[in-house]
This record gives sequence, structure tokens and C-alpha cells, in this order.
Amino acid sequence: MTAVDDIKARLDIVDVVSSYVTLKKTGRNFKAACPFHTEKTPSFVVNTERQSWYCFGACGTGGDAFSFVMRKENMDFSEAMRLLADRTGVTLKERGQHERTDILLRVNQDAAKYYQDVLASAEGAAAREYLKERGIDAATAESFQIGLSPKGRNTLSAHLSSLDHHIDHAIQAGLLRRRDDESIADFFWGRLMFPIHDRRGRVAGFGARTMDGSDPKYINTPGTRVFNKRSMLYGLHKAAATIRDDGTAVIVEGYMDAIAAHQHGDANAVASMGTALTEQQVSTLRQIAKRVVMALDADPAGQEATHRSLESSWQVFERATVGSAAVGPLYAQDKHVDLFIAPLPAGVDPDDLVRKDPEAWKSLIRDAVPVLDFLIDSIPTRYDLTDARGRAQALDAISPLIPATLDPTEQERHFAKLASVLGVSREALEASISRPRTQHKPSGAAARRIQARPANPALLTDVRRDLVEEYVLALLLARFDLAGIAAAAKREYFHGTENREVFDCWQACSTIEEVRIKLDEGLHDHLDRLLATQLSPTEPWPAEDALTQSLGRLAQRYFKEFQQSLLVSDDSTSPPSPELEGAIVDTNSQIRTQETGAARAEL
Ligand code: UTP
Ligand code: MN
Repeated sequence: MTAVDDIKARLDIVDVVSSYVTLKKTGRNFKAACPFHTEKTPSFVVNTERQSWYCFGACGTGGDAFSFVMRKENMDFSEAMRLLADRTGVTLKERGQHERTDILLRVNQDAAKYYQDVLASAEGAAAREYLKERGIDAATAESFQIGLSPKGRNTLSAHLSSLDHHIDHAIQAGLLRRRDDESIADFFWGRLMFPIHDRRGRVAGFGARTMDGSDPKYINTPGTRVFNKRSMLYGLHKAAATIRDDGTAVIVEGYMDAIAAHQHGDANAVASMGTALTEQQVSTLRQIAKRVVMALDADPAGQEATHRSLESSWQVFERATVGSAAVGPLYAQDKHVDLFIAPLPAGVDPDDLVRKDPEAWKSLIRDAVPVLDFLIDSIPTRYDLTDARGRAQALDAISPLIPATLDPTEQERHFAKLASVLGVSREALEASISRPRTQHKPSGAAARRIQARPANPALLTDVRRDLVEEYVLALLLARFDLAGIAAAAKREYFHGTENREVFDCWQACSTIEEVRIKLDEGLHDHLDRLLATQLSPTEPWPAEDALTQSLGRLAQRYFKEFQQSLLVSDDSTSPPSPELEGAIVDTNSQIRTQETGAARAEL
């Protein structure tokens, strides 16, 4: 089974589409106003049996879950595949991973090793002393691969060259930079180096701390093909197993905090690296944690910003819940995750606390409060409640955060608490909130959640493969000289986005090697499967006839489905509109043409 099969088996087109659009059930199908163009009468149909969608209106096109996401998110196949793999929990295979990516990871790994060696050398004496002062022991330093970048302009570059690394790759990895005068210089100088590992423990980038108090305190690898600070969590490669086992993840802000926590036995700590939690970080944690505790700085300067970012990260967390409630208990599987806040005493950071008072740190984490309680409790410090306007602002900011999907007792508890904090009666509060409390319509960013269902073993063997499509492609790949016959074929004849992608590449190429290069790497195993397809039964027919006939079938199916969508979309209580009738007659004749074409080939 390919990764695409796996993802498809875990997705339901209705869930995917309804995370963006409100669908209305009509018989066995669903209908909606098309999300891709503006219209009054719904002409967008979702077919559950075929797991496909179709807009017979201005778009006149359709496809599967992949093509829907590609269009909706404006993504190419590979991006959509990564998103859906992420949402369904499918791990994309290493094989076929970008060679280019591998090279950057290798350069990073060699650089990390080199920085470690520099730290262990005579040159590293002061840095080792610094680590000691900070309470980081040698074993922890080793396990986090902490190192030191030497104070030399071309030290790392010389070392990487000696290992036969290409300078360009080191530049692409953010380790070296090309200066204005075209000379090459090491990016990190004389800093304590913290490799930032991806989930699988590969070095994706670095955080680098000064030890002489100069500014900026940390510099980090700039964005590269393998490093995006916003999507990573520092220490996750070490913490993931523990987080999965005990269900709780602890988020701290800094490298130093995470390292100290690990050294003192809290192997479930990760660092957000100083920024507000991002959606990607939350989505990563959601896959492995049930409970996320965020240790929060008491720093009053950043407090308002922190609260605002909490309000939004909390919403990111909540999306999972909203999504699963919308699709029913079947999919409401363990993707739910709760966010708790552990406020730190003023002037204390986790690094300090963990080292000086491990018990206090443990109870702080244990006594963390649900984020909503935290936000409601902190209203008096953020809003002027003596003023009616202040109370209204607080209400507007906080009441929308109380999820309509929450169970009624919990919901009531929050509203009662909010009323008491605001100093108003429960009734007055109720009267001033106009939002509907029972229905939550996903919209905007909130809708961008796509629910995955657990892989159903019965589905995994299935199904959504189409043998005719695969046969046609196999034939085309074996015979690039048949381009003439396929010239009139539309990519829409293929249901599967994976097949559409292969078809596009085939049209643009003239050898299998070219196709392989052009095709997204995520589809290489699909390509291999196509190449392994048995073609022998084409005898006694020449391949030309076999292709004409199979393409004819796909075309016929395409027009029939188009016609079906037209019929489904029509409101059967009134006679069809002239446009609709015209379109149906038109497709009828197209179907007949295809039938005669196929029949001719069969003769
Ligand atoms: P902190 O200032 O809390 O850093 O910033 P820290 O890790 O506790 O380091 P020490 O204790 O001062 O040595 C939290 C995180 O914010 C990011 C880093 O990821 C840091 O760990 N940060 C901070 C930067 O990226 N750049 C900066 O200049 C400062
Ligand atoms: Mn610190």
C-alpha cells in the first residue's frame, strides 16, 4: 500500500469538505454552495460512494480529497499530501525523501559533531565552565549534542570542505553565509551551540547563545529547507516517547529550561523557543499528548501579549474538539487535547526552579489550571472592571472562548465564574451574550481542521484504487509513443489525484526517468506500482486499441458522472432549468460518442 492509499483510507471526503463548507444531505449525496466560486444555488456535490466532489457550476470540475485540499488551500500535490498525512497521522516514508533535504541534514549533523569536538577541545574550556555554572552536566550536554562554534571566520567551512561537503549545501543549511564581497564566512561565531533536532533526532538547525552578554542573546538558523522554527519544538525527539506514554507534554520557553527539565527527570519537556505556540506545534503535540501544560512566565512586561497569544493558541487547541464534535463520536477519537497553564512565580524561570526546587516544579506542573480558568481568573488584572466599557471588553474577549461544544455543566461552570469575576448576575451575563450557544459552525481558520478517522483495516486493503485508471497509466508509461491517442484525454478522467499527477507528468515527459524526476517524491511508490502493472493481456489487441478502449471507458464514466451531478444538484420539486437541460442533453451526446468510440475499439 502506498502512502496515498493509506491517507485515503483514513479520510472521508465528507469530513474533509465539511471542515471548510457546510454540507447539506440530499439522498445519498451532499450538496453545498461551491467553495471555489460565488453562487446562489448550490452546484457543488459530494459523492460519498465514490469519495469525490464535483462542481457542475462555474468550475465544471471535481476530484477527490487531495484535489479538494489542493484547490482550497492553494497547495501543490506535495504540500497537500504533507498536510493530509499530518492530519491523518500517516508517516510519510523516508524512501524517496528529497535527496536535497538529506544533504542538508547530513551537513548539519557534521557541523553539530564538529561543534561538540570544539567544546571538548582546549578552546572549549571557558564554555565548559559556563555550562557547569549553569548546572548542565556533561551527560546532558552530550545527549543534547551541545557544542561550541569557534571564533574563526572560516573554521567550520574549512572543516566541512575537508569532509567533501559542498559549500553551497552548507550555505543552504544556514551554516555559512556569502558576504557582500562574495567571500564565505561561518554564520555562528564563538557561541554555545544547541542543535535543534526534528522529531526523528536529525539536526535541522541550531540555536546559538552568546556567553559574553552581547546582543542578541540567541541567534538561530534562518529558515532553510529543513528548518522552520515555527514548526519545531526543541527537545521533542527526546520527549516524544515519554509524552506518548504518560499523555502529558510540558512546554517551556527556552532551550535552557527544556534541558534543565530533562536533566532533572522531566523527560516530557519541550521548548517553544520563545514564540507563541504555533498551529503546527500544536498539531504535532496533538498527535501524541492528551494534556499539554504550559509553564508561563510571570514577566509582567510580556503579560498582555502572552494572554493574547494564549487566547489564540487555546483556540488552536480547541479546534480539534470542535471538529470531532461536528463529525460525531466515530471520529471523536483520542485527538482531543487539553491545555493547562502553570504560572511561574515572579522572577523565576523553569530552569531555576527545576534545579533549585524540583518538588516545587513538580507540584507547579501538577496543579496547572485549565487555560480557560486561567484566562477568566486573570480578567481583573487585564481589564478595568470598575468601568462598564472594561467589563464589556472582558466579556467580548472571553465569552467566545467558552466552547459551545463543551458539556453543559462545564459550560455553566465557566459562565458562572465569568459572571462572578465580572460582578454581574448570571442572567445579566446571559442577556449580554448574543451568540448561539448550541451550534458551532466552523469558519475561517477554525474550519481548517480536517478530521482523520482511525485506519479501518477493512478499508486499508481497499478500494479507492481504480484499476482502469492504473491500467491506462501503466500502458502510457510503457508506450510514450501513444501520446497521439491520449491527446484528447482530460486529466479529470482520472478520479485519483495521484493518477492525475502521473498523467500530467507523462504528458510533459518522454521517458520514465523524466517522469520520475518531475513527479513528486511522495508518489514514487505509486509510480513503481504502475510500472509493475501486468500489461500482457493486451494481446491479441494492439496496445493502441487497448488504450483507446480504456480511455473511452474513463471518458464515458467522466461524462456520466458529470450528468449525474447535474441531476443530483437539481431540485427535483421543480422542472429543470433550460441551462441544466441543455447541459444534460449535451453530455448525453458526449456519452454516445464515447460509447461508439469504445465499441469501435472493441471490434
Ligand atoms: P529566554 O531568554 O528565556 O532564554 O528565551 P533561555 O533559554 O531561558 O536562556 P538563558 O536562561 O537566558 O540562558 C526563551 C527562548 O526564546 C528564544 C530562545 O529559543 C530561548 O531559549 N530566544 C530568546 C531567541 O530565539 N532569541 C533571543 O534573542 C532570545
Ligand atoms: Mn532562562
